[in-house]
Amino acid sequence: MPPGMYHDPGIAALEQDRIFRRDWQCAGRAESIPDKGDWFSWQIADQPVLVVRDSKGAVRAHANVCRHRMTRLMEGQGNCRRIVCPYHAWTYDIDGKLVAARHMERSQAFDAGGIALAPVRCEVWHGWIYLTLDPQARPVAELLAPLGAIVADYHMEDYVEVLRQDHLWDTNWKLLTENFMEGYHLPVTHRKTVGAYFPAEETEFGKEDHEAFTYQLFQKTTDAPIGTAHADNTRLTGRWRTTSVMPTVFPGHMYVLAPDHLWYLSLQPRGIGQVAIRYGVAFAPERLAAANDRERLIKDATDFLWDVNLEDRDVVEALFAGTASPLAEPGPLSWLEKENHDFAGWLARRLTA
Ligand code: FES
Ligand SMILES: [Fe+2]
Repeated sequence: MPPGMYHDPGIAALEQDRIFRRDWQCAGRAESIPDKGDWFSWQIADQPVLVVRDSKGAVRAHANVCRHRMTRLMEGQGNCRRIVCPYHAWTYDIDGKLVAARHMERSQAFDAGGIALAPVRCEVWHGWIYLTLDPQARPVAELLAPLGAIVADYHMEDYVEVLRQDHLWDTNWKLLTENFMEGYHLPVTHRKTVGAYFPAEETEFGKEDHEAFTYQLFQKTTDAPIGTAHADNTRLTGRWRTTSVMPTVFPGHMYVLAPDHLWYLSLQPRGIGQVAIRYGVAFAPERLAAANDRERLIKDATDFLWDVNLEDRDVVEALFAGTASPLAEPGPLSWLEKENHDFAGWLARRLTA
């Protein structure tokens, strides 16, 4: 894309308006909040959100904003019976309903019965929690139905998250999306990690284009430390046992779905030159069950994947510097960057609609 796409404040404002305040965006994994009252915070566009396992056991989301004087309520993650505002202690139950507010008895305008945290649309799809601020957005299951058909045999809804972290990197969010979606850089940038087990020429792309996502399939050599099916995996057969699916759900939910694990990024722009990254790792259940030393398995895999991420951080921060320079001009793409073309087309449609 032209370098201005990564640096123009007008483009960034348009993206907030037309994309981040409208589209479904992934906040994390449903199994990471298994019990009633489990919660974590997240933010889409300029809206802080609380994602909570409610009193009926469903995942739901509330605006993370008090109904009194509108302060942000909670940050981080945990388990709670009540949501208590840190300012004047208005207290909500986990379904968002106001249940206590002190010293309000002389306020005639106050009616506790009618007050609840503003709901945010939230849908769980194959284990992923998606949020949107758009009441008109099409249901996730409908939008991503063609992706569901591609990933169905992996049963990623049964994968178990073992790690979730939030980071802030100094780059434009689109440079990170573009970096994630192409395997062209793997044998170079990641030659010491994932690039060593990646036969680039075996990359495959879907034959059709889809409205809300793009993806590729790639192979792992059988000597790779992670990324191929465990012997106890009876879901995948033949070539699928060494195949990973790498979807990008626009705008910024990207993951590698391997037969034995998955890892994901979910992006939120923070201005032009910073991106908030939610990063997580989950394992297929049989891989976890078979581990003699579960902690070791988790640590080795997450250390390895984090090394991959750090290699990417250097690249995407360098891209931000390069694209800001006066002589920057983009060159042609490789066939391995087919999805970058998909992404540019999607952005062009969304920003000019
Ligand atoms: S702002 Fe939350 S109780 Fe006052
Ligand atoms: Fe990379």
